[in-house]
Amino acid sequence: MSEIQTLGQFIAANEKDFPGGRLEFASVLSSIRLAAKIVNKEVNKAGITKDIIGSTSSENIQGEVQQKLDVFADNSYIAAMKYNGDVAGVASEENETFVEFDTEAAKKAKYLLVMDPLDGSSNISVNVSTGTIFAIYRRISPIGSPLTNEDFLQGGNAQLAAGYVVYGSSTMLVYTTGNGLHGFTFDPAIGVFFLSHPNMQSPADGCIYSVNEGNYLYFPEGVKRYLKYCQEYDKSSCRPYTARYIGSLVADFHRNLIKGGIYIYPTSKTYPNGKLRLLYECYPLAFMIEQANGKASDGKTRIMDLPITELHERAPLVIGSTKMVVKAEEFMRIYW
Ligand code: AHG
Ligand code: MN
Ligand code: MN
Repeated sequence: MSEIQTLGQFIAANEKDFPGGRLEFASVLSSIRLAAKIVNKEVNKAGITKDIIGSTSSENIQGEVQQKLDVFADNSYIAAMKYNGDVAGVASEENETFVEFDTEAAKKAKYLLVMDPLDGSSNISVNVSTGTIFAIYRRISPIGSPLTNEDFLQGGNAQLAAGYVVYGSSTMLVYTTGNGLHGFTFDPAIGVFFLSHPNMQSPADGCIYSVNEGNYLYFPEGVKRYLKYCQEYDKSSCRPYTARYIGSLVADFHRNLIKGGIYIYPTSKTYPNGKLRLLYECYPLAFMIEQANGKASDGKTRIMDLPITELHERAPLVIGSTKMVVKAEEFMRIYW
């Protein structure tokens, strides 16, 4: 037997670091691990199973056509949380309002989950990486009373834990509870996540920029000027940078986290507030990049400090290697 630690062993060994040091918090992470395995299995066979690939006839709250896997992933994570017993409710990209569980255990539960159950779902049909993004909060409404929107709108700094699963060439689960960012790779043969990336660090600087440059015309002046800066020649800062954009936020984030880079989804004429969702895309990734010594901003303000008033609120996102984000902010401050 090698000395590799499983996710379950890692959770147990680090329980003392959990917010409140609570046993039930470990159980929430274990249920996320279970749902991740179930969704991973479906994503992996998406290409060969007709009834799982493709669109449904419905749209979600953002007016986007739901893919069958969006719905499957949403149902899988919600079911895992419902029967966990320590989770009172879930807010998801795929549901207009939050879901409150009515089991006796859930009514007394202290934790809440927010999630993008399947990120990058437009990439499923072409065999490109997708992901799940999640964060855990402590409920603030008294036990015994119904959950409210305020339970879910506590802001980025109130996150107890955040993580993502990337369903890629290998499947990984990466998470933080505020004590560093740790990555686990799934071994499908035995169905176990193993610790493969302890204490992940975002390189302070990088040579990759990731943005949907097809929208260039619609970007604010500061973003346009920063993108020109990325394309200028300067050997000492490895410019021109390499452009890499998958169109799955989780996969783009994961690559840049490991290699060093910047991801930008700015405001634009098409998306005046940006496209990405603050609660279950921007806040969790911001928490994670900061745990890896990177930086996340909306161009001006630290993402974690942005206030939130609606579950599906959008925000611009500039995230990745600290020096690159600082440089992008310089341009965006001057030419906002
Ligand atoms: P989702 O699939 O959860 O709706 O998220 C899609 C997001 C994100 O994954 C990706 O980075 C971005 O949309 C891509 O948008 P564009 O196609 O506008 O570049
Ligand atoms: Mn998404
Ligand atoms: Mn999604």
